[in-house]
Amino acid sequence: MSETAKISIQGVETELPLLVGTENEVGIDISGLRAATGAVTLDFGYKNTGSTTSSITYLDGEAGILRHRGYSIEELADKAEFLEVAYLLINGELPTKEQYDAWDNEIRRHTLVNTDIQNMFDAWPTGSHPMGQLIAMISSLSSFYPESLNPNSGEEARMRTITRLLAKMPTLCAMISKNRIGHPIIYPKNNLSYVENYLNMTFKHVTEDYELDPVFVRAMNKLLILHADHEQNCSASTVRLVGSSHANLYASISAGVAALWGPLHGGANQQVIEMLEAIAADGGDAQKYIDKAKDKNDPFRLMGFGHRVYKNFDPRAIIIKKSADEVLEKLGVSDPTLEIAKKLEQAALSDPYFIERKLFPNVDFYSGIIYRAMGFPVEMFTVLFALGRLPGWIAQWREMMDDKQPIGRPRQIYTGPVSRSFTPLNERG
Ligand code: SDX
Repeated sequence: MSETAKISIQGVETELPLLVGTENEVGIDISGLRAATGAVTLDFGYKNTGSTTSSITYLDGEAGILRHRGYSIEELADKAEFLEVAYLLINGELPTKEQYDAWDNEIRRHTLVNTDIQNMFDAWPTGSHPMGQLIAMISSLSSFYPESLNPNSGEEARMRTITRLLAKMPTLCAMISKNRIGHPIIYPKNNLSYVENYLNMTFKHVTEDYELDPVFVRAMNKLLILHADHEQNCSASTVRLVGSSHANLYASISAGVAALWGPLHGGANQQVIEMLEAIAADGGDAQKYIDKAKDKNDPFRLMGFGHRVYKNFDPRAIIIKKSADEVLEKLGVSDPTLEIAKKLEQAALSDPYFIERKLFPNVDFYSGIIYRAMGFPVEMFTVLFALGRLPGWIAQWREMMDDKQPIGRPRQIYTGPVSRSFTPLNERG
């Protein structure tokens, strides 16, 4: 293959270097384009634009492949602990037993949050959306750990900041759950695993014992792994962009949570359940809602369907759909929304509109059904996505910082008024 791409602008030809990745993806390096031609590229939503090289996650949208540092999502979801995957994403290799034990022990020892954070929760209006609270609570950590404010203060300080965030995230998420219902919080217990601790802090009631259900623990572990990273998605790109200004890690991750909140991104998992419940309340007519989704005059979209990268299937959705059947069967739960979801999927996947546009269930389509079967309120679903995605965001941020990448600052094509003189107010009609 030629090592360059040729581009001709108004008769002037320029050659741009090609960069080929380890999976044979080809990128045109346009870093010299403007200097050579005066032109910039334009790509709304960055549908064809790579923002970085990365060795963390590989997606093949046509083949439905998702790998983290070379390991398939199927193997990781089936065989790994979530903290193992977090270590793999952040450090580049799976930990040895000794490394894992040290990692796990260090995280168990940092699960407590400053009690002043509870005062912050007390100030929130009742009914505040959990994602708004999570954004604020993560950002507030830099107030309790001011040494985190400088992300260039050396590897040891950087890893301490990373460890604190990984360790405190489940505690913050569980505190949000408890504060939403006005119940006393449950403190973390160092003798529980990462996932067990989160479930115990969330579901244990202060007046009763709580017995961890191994079905819940395995299902939660798998769901967190399936959400752990997804290369340069909207929220990961946000973390990188904010971090590129050398804002601290907590501020960068807080910005990523804000991006994830959107219904076109992680907020879709809450929208899916609300959509399925609305369809159930409206008689369960799947075709009616398929027709609404196809109607350009109707703003309704089939939430949990479609993906920017996957053009045949989302491998995570396949794993989650299988897990939903297993969890509901083991819990003896029959959820009418699961049947509606399956009817929607069958109807959509045989409909030319969806086939032509390569729209099918994504990671958010079935995840909410499991979360609900486990007892999470729908407003907490996107918080659960953030809990899973945290190690991926941290890995993306660390790679950007380690690569010493420049501050992100895209160009534009101006389409506003050309130069004109100012008319004083008293002369303007
Ligand atoms: C996540 O990027 C990631 O990796 C994200 C994620 C991750 O792990 O980080 O995978 C997590 O965000 C999954 C996506 C969750 N969002 C939803 O489920 C919301 C519903 N889906 C869509 O809004 C949409 O499919 C997106 C946002 C996911 C992707 O949008 P694109 O790539 O910008 O595609 P598009 O909006 O340009 O749609 C192409 C066509 C359009 O029709 P035409 O104008 O060509 O006629 O498909 C149609 C769209 O109208 N379309 C849909 C649809 N999604 C796209 N029509 C009906 N229902 C839908 N869900």
